[in-house]
Amino acid sequence: MFSFTSFFFALFALFSIAASAPLAARDVYVPPVLYPNANTVWKAGSRHNVTWDTSNPPAQITNKIGMIVLAKGDFLIGLNEPLAKGFDILSGRQEVTLPADTTPGDDYSVVLFGDSGNNSQKFKITN
Ligand SMILES: *[C@@H]1O[C@H](CO)[C@@H](O)[C@H](O)[C@H]1NC(C)=O
Ligand SMILES: *[C@@H]1O[C@H](CO)[C@@H](O)[C@H](O)[C@H]1NC(C)=O
Repeated sequence: MFSFTSFFFALFALFSIAASAPLAARDVYVPPVLYPNANTVWKAGSRHNVTWDTSNPPAQITNKIGMIVLAKGDFLIGLNEPLAKGFDILSGRQEVTLPADTTPGDDYSVVLFGDSGNNSQKFKITN
């Protein structure tokens, strides 16, 4: 069991560095991921819609461009090759294709990034 808070702030720090942009004066908004969730099983190489809850956005969002990265355990994997990027964070849905060589495991999550990151529940990937 890992600490969500430390995971979240590790992601926040990582992304801040990656984006090398000042975050202080921004409206930080990343909606919670609805799918995949704890009941989800995805096959490596398959295509799915990641969905998230856009019902409560703030009036102003600085960064509306989203990115989805796969994580395993506490680690982001494939940060250099996101599952998706360049989509509208208010769309609530984005198709992604899992790499066919994804190692099976039950501690995967997807992280939705806008100004910061919000991760899905842990789900399972099979061969
Ligand atoms: C992440 O999602 C939670 C709800 O699960 C929400 O309370 C929080 O504000 C979101 N984080 C950001 C940075 O928007
Ligand atoms: C994702 O959702 C769109 C719109 O509902 C649909 O057209 C598409 O077939 C879905 N993709 C998958 C992989 O289910």
